[in-house]
Amino acid sequence: MEYIFDTHAHYDDEDFDEDRYALLESMKENGVGTIVNIGASMKSCKTTLELAKKYPFVYGVLGVHPSDCGDLTEEDIQWIKEHSAHEKIVAIGEIGLDYYWDNVERDVQKKWFVRQLELAKETGLPVVIHSRDAAQDTLDIMKSEHKGTTGGVIHCFSYGVEMAREYLNMDYFIGVGGVLTFKNGKKLKEVVEYAPMDKIVLETDCPYLAPVPYRGKRNSSLYLPHVVEAMAEIKGMESEEVIRVTAENAKRLYQLV
Ligand code: NI
Repeated sequence: MEYIFDTHAHYDDEDFDEDRYALLESMKENGVGTIVNIGASMKSCKTTLELAKKYPFVYGVLGVHPSDCGDLTEEDIQWIKEHSAHEKIVAIGEIGLDYYWDNVERDVQKKWFVRQLELAKETGLPVVIHSRDAAQDTLDIMKSEHKGTTGGVIHCFSYGVEMAREYLNMDYFIGVGGVLTFKNGKKLKEVVEYAPMDKIVLETDCPYLAPVPYRGKRNSSLYLPHVVEAMAEIKGMESEEVIRVTAENAKRLYQLV
């Protein structure tokens, strides 16, 4: 049996306060083998580290989301740097630009995006990139800064085939989740059709972006089979094969092999 690898989850979120541990403990018996919990604020970086230490199958990613970087300090960066040396911390993220919420000045977002890309180079860890409604600025920064990084993933990929080609050329992975099952997920379906199977990884971004038929509800890794099914159909593959290949990709992404 192949186990699903969820490359992007937020089990530190308060939406999981009532059943976090029971839910995580039910993963394996439901076919989910590995989960990477992603930091977004300094607070969630700390809980991410705790979860990664507590569960053998949970890994952590430390970094600060563009919408949370308003009060970020160089001291915080040093804290992340120090704790990213832990063996269960596998990347820097999620970092990037978010012009959809646009609640932090764009220049400030850019500054901390670049600083955290540097941090990835300093630590030798790959990066988890968040980019929403900021396609051109993200690409410009990535093009000038990605050299020297050990690669990474463009998580919750929301752009078109042209943009996917740019990141695939930089040897980055494309993160695909619940949106693939949405009626209005046509752009992502095209990207999945276009991208080589060895550059795609599965993610939930839970508690957000639950796939159909759970759209709008709290998401969890247990719903990933619905994304697998949609991907298998687009790629003309068996579901088991999608699970196996995406798990192998995830291991390469996070340098677990
Ligand atoms: Ni996320």
